[in-house]
Amino acid sequence: MSSSERGPSRAPVTLRVNGSLRDVDLEPRTSLLDALREHLQLTGSKKGCDQGTCGACTVWVDGRRVLACLTLAVTCEGHDVTTIEGICADGEPHPMQHAFVEHDAFQCGYCTPGQIMSAIALIEEGNATTDEDIAEFMSGNICRCAAYPNIRAAIREVRDAAN
Ligand code: FES
Ligand code: FES
Repeated sequence: MSSSERGPSRAPVTLRVNGSLRDVDLEPRTSLLDALREHLQLTGSKKGCDQGTCGACTVWVDGRRVLACLTLAVTCEGHDVTTIEGICADGEPHPMQHAFVEHDAFQCGYCTPGQIMSAIALIEEGNATTDEDIAEFMSGNICRCAAYPNIRAAIREVRDAAN
């Protein structure tokens, strides 16, 4: 049987996701988003555009936000990947999750995991000082339901509680 008849080749990859080591066999071209959703059944990270324009797939790699649809899974070996499923502490929702609920910062909810991953990172980055900064540095996360004012209110609340 030729290699083309066997289909694309796969290679073993070990990913550390939400603190756990996970072994998967992946094609080298597999995106981190597909690895998470299709191979590790972590479906919290959403696929909106699959081309880097909507932010629905935002996760953290070594604490920095990245677009999982534009990141090759194999490049994440040896790094810490955090998804929306990994931000709870002791089973308690993250304060940003509470704030999104409190401020009604979503409608359909499809963009929400990516919004929350970006929102937490935004405060860590020091880019949530003003409403203008919040809008600018959250501009990679699109919300088709236009919940932007409520999202900014949730971010302000968590920012202010941290100060
Ligand atoms: Fe990754 Fe849209 S799915 S940016
Ligand atoms: Fe619907 Fe943002 S809540 S896309």
